[in-house]
Amino acid sequence: MSSQAETLSSHHYCSQEVFDQEREHLFHGGWFMCARGDTIAPGSRRVVDVVGESIILSRTADGTLHAHANVCRHRGARLCQPETVSSHRTIVCPYHAWSYALDGALVGTPHLSHDDVDRDALSLWSIALREHEGFVFVSLAKTPPAFDSWMQTHGGEVVPLFRFGLGDLRVAFTSRTTVAANWKIIVENYQECLHCTRVHPELVELVPAYRGGEVYERTRGDGGVTLSGGGNSFSHTGHSKLPLLPKMSEVDAHSYFGCTLFPNVFVDITGTSAIVSTLFPISATQTVVTMEYLFAPEAIAASGFDPQPIIDFSELVGAQDNMVCEGVQQGVSSHAFTHGVLTDKDSLVIGFVEHYNQAMSAAPMAQ
Ligand code: FES
Ligand SMILES: [Fe+2]
Repeated sequence: MSSQAETLSSHHYCSQEVFDQEREHLFHGGWFMCARGDTIAPGSRRVVDVVGESIILSRTADGTLHAHANVCRHRGARLCQPETVSSHRTIVCPYHAWSYALDGALVGTPHLSHDDVDRDALSLWSIALREHEGFVFVSLAKTPPAFDSWMQTHGGEVVPLFRFGLGDLRVAFTSRTTVAANWKIIVENYQECLHCTRVHPELVELVPAYRGGEVYERTRGDGGVTLSGGGNSFSHTGHSKLPLLPKMSEVDAHSYFGCTLFPNVFVDITGTSAIVSTLFPISATQTVVTMEYLFAPEAIAASGFDPQPIIDFSELVGAQDNMVCEGVQQGVSSHAFTHGVLTDKDSLVIGFVEHYNQAMSAAPMAQ
């Protein structure tokens, strides 16, 4: 007799109170992957929203990456508009035009001399930052958890994929979609393939294992799934003329490897590309999903570089997923919904729910 477990409750998917607790415990209390490092060139900056906290990521000319609160030290004005990217080497406040260097130092205070204001004491507020394998993590905790042990606890699935040289890859294209669904619905959808035959007819042509509702091939021990016809990419034909990722073996090149980095990242790797999907929760019922398409720098620089077939295919699959996730959000918002059920074939969803419950009960509160 097979067993059934319960999903999370309607409250978990719809309540602002739960969302506020998640923000404190998970998103601000731990490390939050918010960008790929190569998207911030030396001498430039960009703004990201980490669950309600606006953060300026900037890279000084020496290559050092910085993270600061997007808040002026004078009277607290928002400095940069959301999601902006700029190559200006100073950040100028739109209110009284105080200006900051990319390392956060206050360098200009119009109408006010050094005697009027202690510039040295008024650098931008710094945010804890780690750049690891090209992933940029920030922590808004007063005392951030030790990064290495945090990665061991929450990033165990992604570490084996570092063998493909993720840190050396570059983003060639980014899509950004607002999905009307709780972030956990999107993670849970990623963790099972019982929906694949119905929702992703193109994808199951490419990955035969998915036709049976499996996420993994049980006959393989490496977590990979075989692409049909010796394919090397997620694309309509399965075949790309792009060069293999630099650290991709000929054996692995014809498989797909995917994983999550708890709580908000999916990584999908085939022979010719890596796709990093990042969830930016906005509210209990809204999530921005970015999909970044990574390739070898040499592939991007080569004449005739054409990632479009890979982008088109994954955007199609992503749109299919987003649509069903929005349908789930609508369903779980009903008074009728208490819990759903999870079966043995939902083992990864069950694993996620357990991880979530554990992280929510164990994480220290952010200050
Ligand atoms: S609030 Fe920024 S310069 Fe006054
Ligand atoms: Fe899906």
